[in-house]
Amino acid sequence: MIKVSLIVGSPRKNRSCNFLIDKAIEGIKSVSADFTINKIQITDYNIIPCNGCDACLKSPNDCPLAKEDDTNALEDLILGSTALIIAAPNYFGSVGSQIKVLIDRSRPWKMKNYLLRDVILAPMASTGLRNGGQGVISDLINFGLIQGMIIVANNLGSPVLEGNLPITSLQKYNLKEFVGKDETDELAGLIAYDLGKRVAELSLKIKK
Ligand SMILES: Cc1cc2nc3c(=O)[nH]c(=O)nc-3n(C[C@H](O)[C@H](O)[C@H](O)COP(=O)(O)O)c2cc1C
Repeated sequence: MIKVSLIVGSPRKNRSCNFLIDKAIEGIKSVSADFTINKIQITDYNIIPCNGCDACLKSPNDCPLAKEDDTNALEDLILGSTALIIAAPNYFGSVGSQIKVLIDRSRPWKMKNYLLRDVILAPMASTGLRNGGQGVISDLINFGLIQGMIIVANNLGSPVLEGNLPITSLQKYNLKEFVGKDETDELAGLIAYDLGKRVAELSLKIKK
């Protein structure tokens, strides 16, 4: 079974990041029911911030903090995935702290000779204001590039009309109001769905 892991990177379990992840899961399932889908709520895991001790630079490249937190459980879920999709919230132009801590604590996976090498990474972002979110995408791309991952965006819809990056915003297009509690950013949902499809199709090609 091809394993695809998806991370809701917000401390809020059922908001915009979750919306994007659920749309991506719909897109994956539209390609095939034969994927093992791991949906991870980052806020369910206690991840201690990296303290810079550099123990991961020396064999066996383990992190001493992993004895005290939930990173081993996350490692079991994430490693061995063919693809990883992360939706992170925009906090001051960057990923929120839960995802930043995960990124920093993923350093042992790099030091163990790139355990995430050739894993597909699809970045997604949620933001308050419509023009935000790009910094979040950049943070996730940098993480993926440094880990040796294959970065993908949505390239399935209209090349003219459909954006490549799922960035959902709380701000409506007329700029003067925000979405209500039961409203969603329809275009970002469509892009997230297509990105899920793209990740699924590419995963099947890679695993052939
Ligand atoms: C600490 C904090 C900082 C934020 N900074 C920004 C920001 O710089 N620009 C922006 O557009 N939205 C900002 N937001 C709004 C969030 O990006 C927005 O609420 C987003 O929907 C959060 O994702 P979620 O709904 O999945 O939790 C911030 C929110 C918080 C809590």
